[in-house]
Amino acid sequence: MNVLVIGNGGREHAIVAALSKSPKVDKIYCMKGNAGIAELAELVDVNYCDLQAVGDWVDAHKDVQYTVIAPDDPLALGLADELESRGHRVFGPNKRAAQIESSKAFAKELMKKYGIPTAKYETFSDYESARSYVENGRFPVVLKADGLALGKGVLICENLRQAEEGLKQIMLDKAFGAAGNTVVIEEFLTGKEFTPGEEVSVLAFTDGKTIVPMIPSCDHKRAYDGDKGLNTGGMGTFTPCPFYDKEVADEVMNKIMLPTVAAMNAEGRPFKGVLYFGLMRTPEGMKVVEYNARFGDPETQVVLPMLKTDLMEIFEAVTDERLSDIKIEWEEGACVCVVLASGGYPVKYEKGKEITIGDLDEGVFLYHAGTKRENGVLKTDGGRVLGVCAKGKTVAEAREKAYANVKKIHFDGMHYRTDIGIKYNR
Ligand code: AMP
Ligand code: GLY
Repeated sequence: MNVLVIGNGGREHAIVAALSKSPKVDKIYCMKGNAGIAELAELVDVNYCDLQAVGDWVDAHKDVQYTVIAPDDPLALGLADELESRGHRVFGPNKRAAQIESSKAFAKELMKKYGIPTAKYETFSDYESARSYVENGRFPVVLKADGLALGKGVLICENLRQAEEGLKQIMLDKAFGAAGNTVVIEEFLTGKEFTPGEEVSVLAFTDGKTIVPMIPSCDHKRAYDGDKGLNTGGMGTFTPCPFYDKEVADEVMNKIMLPTVAAMNAEGRPFKGVLYFGLMRTPEGMKVVEYNARFGDPETQVVLPMLKTDLMEIFEAVTDERLSDIKIEWEEGACVCVVLASGGYPVKYEKGKEITIGDLDEGVFLYHAGTKRENGVLKTDGGRVLGVCAKGKTVAEAREKAYANVKKIHFDGMHYRTDIGIKYNR
């Protein structure tokens, strides 16, 4: 079959790479892709947030039998609904189910109603009441813009002055646009003795009946070493996660994953696709920090390379609601991804810098995020540019391999964290 993949980042490169290994897949199109994806797929230059345009393209391409929607924005807009209503097969939740990510207020309400462990919170749509709530509350406090904000709509405020400033940015200055019309104000979660809580991302396939977690991974969201600097889309990942043992996995399955699938069904919003659980280990057990309605980026870049089962087979099993019939298998060992970002990311950065890549060691692979080819020359085209990935027996071994190869890559202003894979693995 021929498959269309929607998206243009490192996550989509990893999905395209996994699909390209499937004996079921003949040809892959990617809308809109990047320079790395272009080596495996035919790029399609259509704005994937224009639902009508995507629908028309798929209608016109009778050779495409399946569409994978990877990014959050087209899912939130209802691209799955649009394509399904035109009779096409898709991977990705419909608009009502995708709200578990696109509205944090909805997600928090769901967790409260169904007793799924998460931080305590209140929701506000007017600045004055939000301000008076934080004035009478405890610090630190966490402010979250309700809608999608490129992973940047979360502010952790140490005192009233910061909280007032944050609420002003989100609700009055609209730093995240309409995403900030409503704000969720949350209790700050910690680990034991108020140390930062350990975090893990667990992506799971679900067809609305069965839920099958993938191997756990850990993201590094802050821009600089030691978790300093602003939140980003993710500066690097590793798998496995050392504290995520069988006991923790069972707790998450029973108290979080199964209840979430049941809650979405009970709300008349059955979720089909990948559910992403952003979790924190707290003294009271595992809690949900966030849900996403899709594969994570850059989590996917370390998770999918370890998948032994045919990804296309899993996608179809989800669409056809027969996920319980298949066995999903993973390689042993570890994988690390180090993100190379443009100078100034996540705030302000230039594009169009020439990228040079030396000979990479065997077993090291690159996933392109923001790249393009102009007259044959590879150039930067986004904030996160490349993910340098390596496998190893342990995270330490994979990490060493990845960093040895980071040194062979260059572009003007390139910055990356030097501590990916160190936390929780010491
Ligand atoms: P999110 O985009 O919701 O995943 O938030 C980004 C990051 O902010 C998370 O990975 C956590 O490190 C931190 N964070 C979010 N919510 C909380 C919370 N309630 N308590 C402590 N840290 C949080
Ligand atoms: N890496 C975080 C995310 O995909 O939302």
